[in-house]
Amino acid sequence: MSNIVVAGAQWGDEGKGKIVDLLTENVSVVARFQGGHNAGHTVVINKKKFILHLIPSGILHKGKICIIGNGVVIDPGALIQEIKGLKRKGIPVGKNLFISDSAHVIMPYHTAIDNQSERSAKKSKKIGTTGRGIGPAYMDKMSRAGIRIADLMDSRVFREKLKANLSFVNYLLVNKYKTRRISLEKIYAQYMKHAAFLETFVTDTSVLLNKYIEKGRNVLFEGAQGTLLDIDHGTYPFVTSSSASAGGVCTGLGVAPTRIDGVLGVVKAYTTRVGGGPFVTELKDKIGEYLRLKGGEYGATTGRPRRCGWLDAVGLRYAVRINGFTDIALTKLDVLDGMDKIKVCVAYKYDDPYRSCSCSKKGRSCRFTDIPHNNRILEACRPVYKELEGWSISTQGAKRFKDLPKQARAYIKYIEDLLGVKVSLISTGEKRDEVIVLKDPVTGRKK
Ligand code: IMP
Repeated sequence: MSNIVVAGAQWGDEGKGKIVDLLTENVSVVARFQGGHNAGHTVVINKKKFILHLIPSGILHKGKICIIGNGVVIDPGALIQEIKGLKRKGIPVGKNLFISDSAHVIMPYHTAIDNQSERSAKKSKKIGTTGRGIGPAYMDKMSRAGIRIADLMDSRVFREKLKANLSFVNYLLVNKYKTRRISLEKIYAQYMKHAAFLETFVTDTSVLLNKYIEKGRNVLFEGAQGTLLDIDHGTYPFVTSSSASAGGVCTGLGVAPTRIDGVLGVVKAYTTRVGGGPFVTELKDKIGEYLRLKGGEYGATTGRPRRCGWLDAVGLRYAVRINGFTDIALTKLDVLDGMDKIKVCVAYKYDDPYRSCSCSKKGRSCRFTDIPHNNRILEACRPVYKELEGWSISTQGAKRFKDLPKQARAYIKYIEDLLGVKVSLISTGEKRDEVIVLKDPVTGRKK
């Protein structure tokens, strides 16, 4: 038995979808533990592109059980669209999908508040959310005003809760955001239709998942976004509103920590970020533009161009500590093909005008090897780079480690040494089979 977490080590978009798809072969269950349809997991199979937002990528494999756990926030309309879209592409969705009755529901007022608050925020304060209502839905969850899937399945309870919430929400929409009220009857009718469609998928997924674990079946816990977007451990407030690192598995699925056997960190060979917030290794030059174009760095959910930069070992070491990675999957190595030099940020430099920083140097020029949590300081940090040789030979589609140019192998070795974790998988292209497997993190088999 082997139950493995797949978690993003950066700001999301590391290529987790492809890695989950790859590992699904050796598991029975794939379970999502947080986030919502802000995520976009891209998988390419036989030239067909699938972008999954809520449903675990495991759905693309026949006979695998997919679970959307209680830690996820679900927009029923978006989920139904995704189910229908998969069916249109010939992917069966029926008894292979289960939705937690304790997951919270994203309501149209969450989306409205998300968009209105972003619109009215000052430029430097804009989070750059996906506009999917994620933050406001988690706000309701935490303030205990949320509507859960179990409530949606009970028309009387749903109506009562909706009515209670709308009295506050409409006050906010009309008086603060100067926009239209939301009609109770319209939403009620719309969501009752959604409920009828989703009813057969709903269950207590913690009970179900633990039964599979008891039987000794392998499970993959699929994370969305990444460690630096985690509500507790990310670059707050420029984060998403859920627990995107490995710790989210236990609360987001009702699974005990003792059931987790390993944590696979997915690391992109460079760094990207969508939306606002500090990004020490960001490249606002031709190299950044090159990475964006070559890596197809545009949001799978919103289509927004991603900000691009060099690999940041300060952020990665932090992710190793928070998640306890037991293996690493390095993705998009091929995007670096043809680069003359490759840089890795090994520390942050900060010239402190107020001598206020608490780092060990306490001087004018401080050096951080851990991410500082004071945003004013983090925003002002500059990268300290180690420069490595690039390679001119294409790595795209490489399937064996020995086929990689020696500079690429040295880059991988350097990352392993910096992080103290072995790289088990190397993705060398977007297609399913463009990958080097050094060790299967689920079975432990070495190749
Ligand atoms: P929200 O999750 O829509 O509230 O957005 C909060 C922040 O997380 C924004 O900076 C988004 O761009 C970012 N974000 C949310 N989901 C993803 C994702 O799947 N990949 C990358 N960034 C994301």
